[in-house]
Amino acid sequence: MAFETITVETDDHVCLIRLNRPDALNALNTQLLGELCDALEEADRNDKARCIVITGSEKAFAAGADIKEMSEKSFVDVFNENLFANASDRIMRIRKPIIAAVSGYALGGGCELAMACDFIIAADTAKFGQPEINLGVIAGMGGTQRLTRFVGKSKSMDMNLTGRFMPAEEAERAGLVSRVVPAKKLMEEAMAAAQKIAEKSLPTILAAKEAVNRSYETTLSEGILFERRVFHSMFATEDQKEGMAAFLEKRQPQFRDK
Ligand code: HXC
Repeated sequence: MAFETITVETDDHVCLIRLNRPDALNALNTQLLGELCDALEEADRNDKARCIVITGSEKAFAAGADIKEMSEKSFVDVFNENLFANASDRIMRIRKPIIAAVSGYALGGGCELAMACDFIIAADTAKFGQPEINLGVIAGMGGTQRLTRFVGKSKSMDMNLTGRFMPAEEAERAGLVSRVVPAKKLMEEAMAAAQKIAEKSLPTILAAKEAVNRSYETTLSEGILFERRVFHSMFATEDQKEGMAAFLEKRQPQFRDK
């Protein structure tokens, strides 16, 4: 597929998607969101890709939804087109793991895009924020919901009401990001994490992602039951036999995705 606002490279089982609108700090416009979702769906279908990394530039992961594009829209325009909800729904349907590698600004829709990924690895330069309040709107792609689950009500209210930016170190402490690394090492660390995931058995990766995501959608007892059923079902795979045999034989497993 040919893209104008993103670049896509698939190598060693990792699909790297780079947001690429440098003049607008990777602001999420209709074209970029469409291309991003197309690329994610393509990676989900592509046997060569086992894990996906989304990143931006050194200065900005994404500085939010494109304010120029949005500014003149009416209620009916945004209601009818449902741009961000459609993109969010498409991202939620991706079954392979998605890592957000965030350097610089991840604001508004950019922070929400990072949170829609499975986990965030942040450069020490990363800044997260939901500054929509300064524009006379509120977050529209999970910023009041996902952020609250990640960092709790108090910090989420602080972010959504003041619009302040949260530095990487605070984001790690608050549970928004899984790790913070020196900016120069961001891509090396994110790609290494993706490689680690890509080495595992694909059905096991998909099941693990599904089970963790279930915890956001159900009660604890239902979630535990779901996990148990999926855990039991893994014993129907050849990769379970291989993984356990390899451990006992003190060798590396050779998973065959079966
Ligand atoms: C469109 C944007 C943009 C955005 C930056 N630019 N953010 N264009 N939409 N969200 C453009 C600027 O207009 C400018 O273009 C160029 O990128 C560089 O930005 P500067 O402001 O000159 O850079 P700097 O001074 O370094 O400041 C960086 C910044 C600031 C702090 C990130 O750009 C900023 O505050 N941006 C807006 C952040 C924001 O409010 N995001 C939430 C958007 S609403 P020119 O042509 O002038 O050089 C949102 C709603 C989500 O996300 C709802 C659902 C997804």
